[in-house]
Amino acid sequence: MTVPHSFEQSPEFAAFAQCVRDARTCRRFREDVAVPLATLHALVDTARVCPSGANRQPLRYAVCADAVRNGGVFPHLRWAAYLKDWGGPVHGERPAAYIAVLCDRKGAPTPEIDLGIAAQTIQLGAQALGLGCCMIGAFDRDGVRAALGLNAPPHAELDLVLVLALGVPAETRVLETVGADGDIRYRRDAEGTHRVPKRPLESVLLPVHGGNAQEKG
Ligand SMILES: Cc1cc2nc3c(=O)[nH]c(=O)nc-3n(C[C@H](O)[C@H](O)[C@H](O)COP(=O)(O)O)c2cc1C
Repeated sequence: MTVPHSFEQSPEFAAFAQCVRDARTCRRFREDVAVPLATLHALVDTARVCPSGANRQPLRYAVCADAVRNGGVFPHLRWAAYLKDWGGPVHGERPAAYIAVLCDRKGAPTPEIDLGIAAQTIQLGAQALGLGCCMIGAFDRDGVRAALGLNAPPHAELDLVLVLALGVPAETRVLETVGADGDIRYRRDAEGTHRVPKRPLESVLLPVHGGNAQEKG
């Protein structure tokens, strides 16, 4: 058996890799296009089966997709720290839905790692559904908890760790390669395209001592 190593050899990998590349953070949305609750539930249902340290599965989710709850969540979110002249999405461009992720830290050996795996799974699922997503870690915990009614049992014991903002994208986001100056800050160009620099393969792939046998031919 030969393991494929290129997009040409594996259309499935090509599609997967393209999905990962296209799933850039989105911060402006078609607020007028509703996201069905069933879609949010399907995304959570996918995150539910992700790997989890010791399989403790400490994460819980609260979703909303209606104007009243969305309006309660939005003011507590912080957007795009590198875009100094932009105060976040305006009316009409705000997220149409949210997934709040909560964590029961008791006995969970790897809550942050579990969170990252689940969040990226939801973001990729959203991309596959034609939705954009922004993971938001900078937000007012008390404000979002109050907006979603997460202060009473059984939720009160859980930490609110991340908010995922979702909706049909209303902005173009593109990948770039980090330049010689090493600047990793995303920016918005004159056309309004969001540009995200990523380090090239050769700068993230470390040489192993002595080299790998296959590299020596
Ligand atoms: C854990 C985490 C927290 C983040 N928190 C915020 C946030 O509070 N506000 C925001 O606008 N973007 C937030 N982001 C999005 C990052 O800014 C974004 O991932 C980064 O700029 C790279 O862009 P990309 O997602 O398109 O690759 C967060 C991303 C991660 C992974």
